[in-house]
This record gives sequence, structure tokens and C-alpha cells, in this order.
Amino acid sequence: MVENKELTIDELTTFCKREGFVYPSGELYGGLAGFWDFGHLGVELKNNIKREWWKTHVHSREDLVGIDGAIITNPKVWEASGHVANFLDVAVVCKKCGNKTKIDKHELGKAKCDKCGGEFLNKGEFNPMFMTNVGAIKEDSIKAYLRPETAQLIFANFKAIQENARLKLPFGVAQIGKAFRNELSPREFIFRCREFEQMEIEYFIAGGMKCPYMDEITGVEIEIYSEEMQKSGEKGKKMKVIDAWKKGIIKTDWHAYWLALEYSWFLSLGANPGKFRARQHSKEEKSHYASDTWDLEYKFPMGFRELQGFANRGNYDLTQHEKYSKKSMSINDSEVGRVLPEVVCEPSLGVERAFMLFLLEAYEYDEKRKNVVLHLDPLLSPIKAAVFPLVNKGEVFEMSREIYHDLLEEFPVVFDKSGSLGRRYSRQDEIGTPFCITTDNETVNDKSVTIRERDSTKQIRVKIKDLRDSLRKLINDDLKFEDAGKVVNTRVK
Ligand code: GAP
Repeated sequence: MVENKELTIDELTTFCKREGFVYPSGELYGGLAGFWDFGHLGVELKNNIKREWWKTHVHSREDLVGIDGAIITNPKVWEASGHVANFLDVAVVCKKCGNKTKIDKHELGKAKCDKCGGEFLNKGEFNPMFMTNVGAIKEDSIKAYLRPETAQLIFANFKAIQENARLKLPFGVAQIGKAFRNELSPREFIFRCREFEQMEIEYFIAGGMKCPYMDEITGVEIEIYSEEMQKSGEKGKKMKVIDAWKKGIIKTDWHAYWLALEYSWFLSLGANPGKFRARQHSKEEKSHYASDTWDLEYKFPMGFRELQGFANRGNYDLTQHEKYSKKSMSINDSEVGRVLPEVVCEPSLGVERAFMLFLLEAYEYDEKRKNVVLHLDPLLSPIKAAVFPLVNKGEVFEMSREIYHDLLEEFPVVFDKSGSLGRRYSRQDEIGTPFCITTDNETVNDKSVTIRERDSTKQIRVKIKDLRDSLRKLINDDLKFEDAGKVVNTRVK
């Protein structure tokens, strides 16, 4: 968490391209709006975010399993889910500046252009699902859709997942994967893309089951901005999430629990609590399937925006699939008997938005060092360590190569022998590498190396035989840096 910078979206875009995090897709031919390619560091950061999310939400929990559904499925799934008929936006064009954008139906006649305040011209409804043909021979092919959310594959497979994984209510099913929306105006870097990834959970209960995990969230506080506060022109109020539920502002214990848990996940990876708020959707803005929705919002450079949605979908989806497939979706639960469960909360997060958040939080231009320092949590850092030989030949060099190859067996590590040591440090600072390891003449004598910590620039001396173990503990925050070796003084920052 770094306080001293306010990056603009353009600066973030430039930084990501310069360092190899994100490029406009197909830039060689002018790019394609809403599509982005992740570079050699971007893919690592993205994978690390997904891995940490999966670890917290699937591997560490008794009540959740994961699936990986297909991007293209039987189009009946999207008829049943209501996406074909109801997943609609209104396209509008500003009469003054020509800005093209989409608005919700209920905003027609009220919304003004966010660029110049001008009035909008209604260009009609559109469905943002991408269509494609399945089948090589045109006459035999069928029209299908690229999925606009991952969630629906969980509902369509619900019975099989519950039976195969022998899940007992309450339980959840998680999924990470691509989703596609033909957004009218993709914008703000990767905030609104046409191809993106979602990390979603459908959490099922029945018969008003109480959330047994509320004691895990007792200390979690956030700015709450309910529908009522918005309509009466009040500001949001900072309060404990559990109190918002007790006062009836958040209607269900499950909704409060998931909101608090997801917010805490971001904080555990270094996000600044002051930049979040929980905002309830107004009656008019809720999706066709939702009875109550809260967004976890984050203060991006363009203002508070949706980071993650939490919809109460009830039994809308399972009922719809029963109706369209004419197959029962109810399950036989050992406690409640035969029941059609309801989704009491659906935490749904875009990977790209989490990616932006973690970079915005980590970025700092360090005036003393005269370079960017990316203070990413080591668990998210694309590269975990860099190995620098101080001498480019002989035994010192050979030993540094051996250390590098040994560490490579466990972590993404780079080897850099070019330029001054200061320059090598700054290269790693800029991409968020938490630890730099140098070998020098002493290394040959005492079989030890120097580790320099990115954020403090402090250095310690560690025996080579302990290096891999110490590095693992440092990355996982199981060991304090000063306790990992003998602190040494040095002038090179
Ligand atoms: N299954 C529920 C669902 O899809 P949503 O609010 O439409 O709900 C959930 O999307 C999350 O997916 C959002 O909170 C956001 O993080 C991400 N998301 C949605 N559309 C996106 C887009 N065009 N580009 C990037 N991320 C997007």
C-alpha cells in the first residue's frame, strides 16, 4: 500500500506497455478496441492473482469446489438464463460531442454525456453477446454465443457437480475463465474490455440457512452506501459490515459475509482500505436475475467504479433451467431433504479490474531512487528474485549461475549481469521483484550471498544452503526479512 501517487489511466497504460505487462491486441495492425494481450510480466501477474484467488476460495475451504466450463455451449443455456431476451443495453450518442456509450434502460431521458454534459440520442437496444456459428458446413451450422458470464456453466452443470463432489448445503461452486461482451464503448484501459476473465462463485443455500462464518468478519469495516442513502442524497457511512447486516441495511448474513470476505482478500494482498466502498444497486439498475445486488467499488483514477458484484440470484437460474430443459434441478440434501437451492450470493470479480487495482496500489515513483518501485505483494510479483554476479567471470560467476538454476526449480527468477548494480536494482524495482541476490568475492570464501529487499532496500547476508528455504518463507511472509540473515550495511540502494 503506497500513498504518494495518483496515476492516471493513460500513465498506467503506458507503464504496462513499456514494461511488458499489457499491449493493445493486434497493435501491429492498429489494434482492436476492447482486446488486450498480456505480455511476459502481465501473464505472470494475472496467473498469480488467479492462483491466490483460487487458493483462498477453493483450496482453503471445505464448502467450495471449482469447475472449468466451456466458452461456447448449447445456446439454449442462454435462452434459459434470460440473456438472449433480457441482457440488453441502450446505445446512445451525445448530440453535442458525438460520444458513443451505453446506458441502462432506466437512465433514458435522465443520463447526460459523461464527457461534455450534452444530451443523448437514443440509438436503440442491443445485446452485447457475441454470436458465432458452430459447424463447418454453413447449412448445418447452429448459431451459438461466446459466454457473457462464466456463472451459467455452474448452473447448467449444477446437478452433476453436487452429486459428483457430494456437496452438502450450504456450498459454493467457483470458476475462473474468459467471458465476452460486445461492449459499445470499451474504455479506460482494461477496465471495460470485450474479452475479459471472471472469477465467480455461486453460493447455494436452502430454507433460510444461517451463515455459520459470521465471526470471521466481526472486525471488517467499510464505507456502506445503500440505495436509501443514494436516493436521499446522503453520503456513504463507514461501519462494520456485520453491523450493516444487524441494522437491516444489508439484508442477508450471507451477503454481508461475502462482501466482507472479498474486501478482506484485497486488503490481505496490500490494497488500501480507504479506497473501497460497498454500494447497493438501485431497484432500476439490478440485472434481470437479481433480487438484491451490492458492488464492491474501488476508487480508480476515473472515480469510484464497480470492482466486484454481489448479486442475490435466488433460485432464478435453476428454475429457468428446469423450465427449459424439463429436467429437475432439485437435490436431495441430507439435512433439508428434496430442495431446489437458491443462490444467496454471487461474488463476481473481473480479473482485469483486480489486475489494474494491484498495479495502481503498488506503483510509486521513488524520488530518492529516481525510479519506479512496484510494491507488489511478493505473492503477486511476476518475478520473485533476481540474481546478480558482481564479477562476470571465474568462480563468482559460476556460483551465481548455479544459484540461479537452483532457484529456478522453484520460482520465476531472472539472471542479470549487465550494467551497474544500481541499474540492475532499479530494473527489478520497476517490475516489482521483491528480492535481489548478489554474489561477490566473499561468496567464494564463506558460501553466502547478499539479499536486498525491494521496499526497504535493506540487505542481509544469507548462506547459500539456506537461500531457497529463506526465499520461500520471505515470499509467503512466514519470515521477517531481518530475521532471515545477518543485516549488512551498504551504500548501493
Ligand atoms: N455473473 C454475474 C456477472 O457477470 P457483472 O456485474 O456483469 O455480473 C461481474 O460482471 C464482474 O465482471 C464485474 O464486477 C467486473 O469486475 C467484471 N466485468 C464485467 N464486464 C466487464 C468488462 N466489459 N470488462 C472487464 N471486466 C468486466
